[in-house]
Amino acid sequence: MSDAPSTAPAPKPEQDTRTPQEKWEHRWQKGRTAWDRGSINPALNQWLAADAIPGPRVLIPGAGTGYEAVELARRGYDVTAIDFAPTAVARLRQQLKTAGVDAVVVEDDFFRWQPEQPVDAIYEQTSLCALEPTQWPAYEQRLHQWLRPGGALLALFMQTEQPGGPPYHCALEQMHALFPESRWRWPPVHP
Ligand SMILES: C[S@@+](CC[C@H](N)C(=O)[O-])C[C@H]1O[C@@H](n2cnc3c(N)ncnc32)[C@H](O)[C@@H]1O
Repeated sequence: MSDAPSTAPAPKPEQDTRTPQEKWEHRWQKGRTAWDRGSINPALNQWLAADAIPGPRVLIPGAGTGYEAVELARRGYDVTAIDFAPTAVARLRQQLKTAGVDAVVVEDDFFRWQPEQPVDAIYEQTSLCALEPTQWPAYEQRLHQWLRPGGALLALFMQTEQPGGPPYHCALEQMHALFPESRWRWPPVHP
């Protein structure tokens, strides 16, 4: 004789009720920051060499430690960096201080923050992929709104090739649909 299979429903995994801001802050505090390369992304140097930043005002959403913010500020750009994790913001402020350069560092949620005026360029690095894909259309709207006409979005779309996230896989076909040619001019040569 064997036990009859239980008909009781399986217990639900405990719901994580933390806000996104609390989750990101927790990652920063626990050092779960695998995305943080400890230095600027080489792509920034390529964009700088190609003179791809069409003006002084650069916005970095979800800036994290903000190596690129420091580098751009060092080169004389008028940088605004925004992140809602207090630990990331404190690190970025410390980095700027150590480098002896200035940038505007905003501790806020970029879904509710607005710059005083549109910017010339946005540096997007592992910020989109950090968001739930359901938030991507709203984020695209924000990016479009933040940029002046003719401004440049310098975007590095994370390719994880894995289900789930964050980071979420930013398949290029999906990026083309999210940033349609009707609103964005893609560079003539891209992967
Ligand atoms: C994966 S990290 C990337 C950090 C940095 N861009 C880099 O490449 O090293 C994503 C960052 O976005 C921030 N973030 C996520 N959602 C945000 C939001 N709605 N408003 C402001 N910051 C946000 C997180 O706190 C985190 O620091």
